[in-house]
Amino acid sequence: MSNNIESHLSEDREFKPSKEFSKKARVSSMAQYKRMHKESVEKPHVFWAREAKELSWDKKWGKVLDWKAPYAKWFVGGKTNVCVNCVDRHVDEGRGNKAAIIWEGEPGDKRTLTYSQLQREVCKFANVLESHGVKSKDRVLIYMPMVVEATVAMLACARIGAVHSIVFGGFSAESIKDRLDDSKATCVITADGGWRRGGVVDLKANVDEALKKDKIVKTVIVLERTRNKVKMKRGRDVWWHDETAKVTGTHKAKSFDSEHPLFILYTSGSTGKPKGILHTTGGYMVNTYATCKYIFDMRDDDVYWCTADVGWITGHSYITYGPMLNGVTQVMYEGAPNFPDFSRFWQIVEDYGVSIFYTAPTAIRAFIKAGDELVEKHDLSSLRLLGTVGEPINPEAWMWYYNKIGGGRCPIVDTWWQTETGAIMISPMPGCTPIRPGTATMPFFGVDAAILDEEGKECKANEGGRLVIRKPWPGMLRTIYGDKKRYKDTYWSDYPGMYTAGDGAIRDKKGNFTIVGRLDDVLNVSGHRLGTAEVESALVSHKAVAEAAVVGRPHEIKGQAVVAFVSLKTGIEGTDELLKEVRNHVGKVIGAIAKPDDVYFTPALPKTRSGKIMRRLLKELVATGKVTGNITTLEDVSVVKSLQKLVKKK
Ligand code: PRX
Repeated sequence: MSNNIESHLSEDREFKPSKEFSKKARVSSMAQYKRMHKESVEKPHVFWAREAKELSWDKKWGKVLDWKAPYAKWFVGGKTNVCVNCVDRHVDEGRGNKAAIIWEGEPGDKRTLTYSQLQREVCKFANVLESHGVKSKDRVLIYMPMVVEATVAMLACARIGAVHSIVFGGFSAESIKDRLDDSKATCVITADGGWRRGGVVDLKANVDEALKKDKIVKTVIVLERTRNKVKMKRGRDVWWHDETAKVTGTHKAKSFDSEHPLFILYTSGSTGKPKGILHTTGGYMVNTYATCKYIFDMRDDDVYWCTADVGWITGHSYITYGPMLNGVTQVMYEGAPNFPDFSRFWQIVEDYGVSIFYTAPTAIRAFIKAGDELVEKHDLSSLRLLGTVGEPINPEAWMWYYNKIGGGRCPIVDTWWQTETGAIMISPMPGCTPIRPGTATMPFFGVDAAILDEEGKECKANEGGRLVIRKPWPGMLRTIYGDKKRYKDTYWSDYPGMYTAGDGAIRDKKGNFTIVGRLDDVLNVSGHRLGTAEVESALVSHKAVAEAAVVGRPHEIKGQAVVAFVSLKTGIEGTDELLKEVRNHVGKVIGAIAKPDDVYFTPALPKTRSGKIMRRLLKELVATGKVTGNITTLEDVSVVKSLQKLVKKK
């Protein structure tokens, strides 16, 4: 392992927060961070009980943690309602008139909801769900644009104990169908459409397609957003506005067990089928609350903006749950960052006085490419803290973010975490951690992170290895929905009792973690995970395709681009038209994000004598145009030459 990952830590630029920032921050010195981290890891029951007590519980837990590897229960026996904690608690404590969500649609329409107004919307929608027979533990699939109602729908599910499962609005009808088949959801919440780069994404049509043969879904609730024409199936489809007009704006919330399922979110793994990551109530709530409080250092007068979509984990933990648990005011934006041009985000920061801004490296790279003028014409002086998530950030992009967006005065929290971890795991503490470009720095409270070699020995400083978490933490996934074996095999079988993240990492002498990237066959395209096997299955499902191998190649904006090597069935010619068709087919099966950037038709794929495709070789080829690695195990060495020619031609 240590041979595979080399140290990239030649980075010696280091930045400390200003005295002024530190003074006000919750964690204001490294000594305080170290003390708190030590306590959180050595006495998790003390640390986490203190955090949990800041939220409201209907029944206090007995034990903080029950750990029988790989199964954790947190705040055992406690009862609470996450929605009440996110919404009602603020109203009850006199913050009802505070803005909860300042929303802007892509066409420029605006809407602000206070916590009281949000409470009314959520209660109404909880009543609607119940009026359609949705009960505790029923699964509800949400497929919506970035509108306030997406958050309302999530919170309403949580309020009645239903388990939401969001499918990103960019995914296809088939992706919806797969997730419905796995989760057996009985209710779908969608919209007539959403705005994206000036056009309408026809969400309802995708739902209709996905439900063609479905026998389980009883109700489809449709929000009117774009007013494009949609078909409504009688007896199944109802309008959001009609249903909410029939119910009252009050709803008495029940309390749920701390381990009650909260949501399922599907994510890609190294095999074809996406994994339904299951998160539960109490632990996830406390962990997202605490990370927002310490890492974003959220304050009453902050205006926070996370640019993620609710379809990804970041939109769950750092739009809906964490920020609302902290009662912050947040901005939500519906559309694309480049509509009408790449200054849209900076216009929003200026218009609403955003003080905490959380985005992805891929967006930062796109802004850099678009040119500094678009940034310079805006007043970004309201910003005080910046964050990134989703993939390693290149040091130069980090420096640009620090200087151009943060004006050299805002700490950057480079936050490493995953769908599975539920909450941020490694990140600077903005008030004290010396930050370095491209480095996620130190573990959050309660996180016992380490880097191990293949034998399970801890790596030395500056030696690369596998990132593991040695102790359970409150926000961790509880299982893969319906597949305990896969849960165990994927995360807990490399090193007994430890969670393997699937990422490579390096730690420097001071203990700073730098995440290098995935170690498995998972691509990171624009900060989103895509399994190579998933794209390969999509390719092979096209009638002309016999076999396919997918790898990533470095891409200036997206981080990684998807490259497919495809061999066609005998007698089929690889025309340009077919190439287009194959690409679009992947878009149809998974979603536009998975469409290969390059498709190479090749008569043969490089395989070992035992028939395994050598992706390592293809990876090297698409990254460098050459193959220098060992090819002695190849069944047919001549394949390499023809592939080299093919790639060069392009
Ligand atoms: O490879 C790591 C990368 O994104 C993966 C998790 O993807 P996902 O579950 O979709 O969640 C993304 C949002 C939390 C990780 O295994 N990753 C995430 N954050 C970082 C990162 N890589 C480097 N630095 C980060 N800050």
